[in-house]
Amino acid sequence: MADLYQLLRPLIFRLPAETAHSLTLKALQMGALPAPARPSSTRLKTRLAGIELDNPFGLAAGFDKNADVPWAMHRMGFGFVEVGTITPRPQAGNPKPRVFRLVQDGAVINRLGFNNAGLAAALPRLAKVPADVALGINVGANKDSIDRIEDYCACIDAVLPYARYLTINISSPNTPGLRDLQAAQDLSKLVSRAVHTRGAHTAPIFVKLAPDMDSAALLEALDAAVEAGADGFIDTNTTLARPASLKSPAKDEAGGLSGAPLLTSSTRVLAQVAKHLGPSVPLIGVGGVASGADALLKIKAGAHAVQLYSALVYHGPGLIRRMAADLDDTLEQAGYASVADAIGTGIDAILETA
Ligand SMILES: Cc1cc2nc3c(=O)[nH]c(=O)nc-3n(C[C@H](O)[C@H](O)[C@H](O)COP(=O)(O)O)c2cc1C
Repeated sequence: MADLYQLLRPLIFRLPAETAHSLTLKALQMGALPAPARPSSTRLKTRLAGIELDNPFGLAAGFDKNADVPWAMHRMGFGFVEVGTITPRPQAGNPKPRVFRLVQDGAVINRLGFNNAGLAAALPRLAKVPADVALGINVGANKDSIDRIEDYCACIDAVLPYARYLTINISSPNTPGLRDLQAAQDLSKLVSRAVHTRGAHTAPIFVKLAPDMDSAALLEALDAAVEAGADGFIDTNTTLARPASLKSPAKDEAGGLSGAPLLTSSTRVLAQVAKHLGPSVPLIGVGGVASGADALLKIKAGAHAVQLYSALVYHGPGLIRRMAADLDDTLEQAGYASVADAIGTGIDAILETA
């Protein structure tokens, strides 16, 4: 499958990125992509906030904003699938073009702006997701909302029956002012209300953070969120930074940068978070993962599981199985009996070098 994707890639890349993505979703919905057996090594089995996963690779939010294809992504080999960001009301997002491939850099810039069909459209699809899909549901606020916290709570309340975990996304750079919710006081209010809304339900609540906070603000936000009842964190969303190494013509487009150039900075944030919170707080590492080695780096930085999106654009649907086989071999060679044995083993080394 890898070779077929590499063969088709030049054709796919002639289409605008968003058109290619819509066609991919349609093909997945139609079951048009082959689905060989899911990775099944016992070494890859892991636990994320009490959720048992076949493997630690998750689909990052944004690929399946409207919960159209969770089952297809599960069949592709993902150990868990996060859908969204879902907002209460449908939203068109920013004018097109708003997604750009940075081919020479293995990266993407997007300024979609939470385009999604809204909560009412998502609910019947969420209700149909088979129980063996470990489903995370990522929620957000409408751009023109007058009470953003209420937006998160309305979504949480409605999606609760379907979520194995919930993600509060306060780190998209494409909704003006959204990242202000990362300030400790606001975050504390938001998480308390979210926890209250969850009530007796067991789905853990993850907070998804930006990679662009300074260390003091990051640690304050973590403490505020934990105190208010957050169960875990996802590190990180896309970055507003533009590393000097970028070569692609689209590098100065406005929006959030993801993919290979985000690996080092997002892993550093992850290690900082892991060091501050200790091993008992579940973390999902995301940003620039494109190989088994990248995944192991995130795990060593403290991730209990990893996610990816941009690498799928460059490597296609066969990537998950290749990464899983690669991680399995690497764990074995390094003498780890399981993913859990490797979690957090590289935090200090990563903080010293990054
Ligand atoms: C086109 C695109 C759309 C995205 N949309 C969302 C979104 O709706 N919600 C969210 O939390 N993250 C979103 N993300 C961020 C990803 O979930 C992820 O955090 C980021 O891309 C870093 O991972 P990657 O380097 O593997 O792509 C989006 C990313 C891309 C590339």
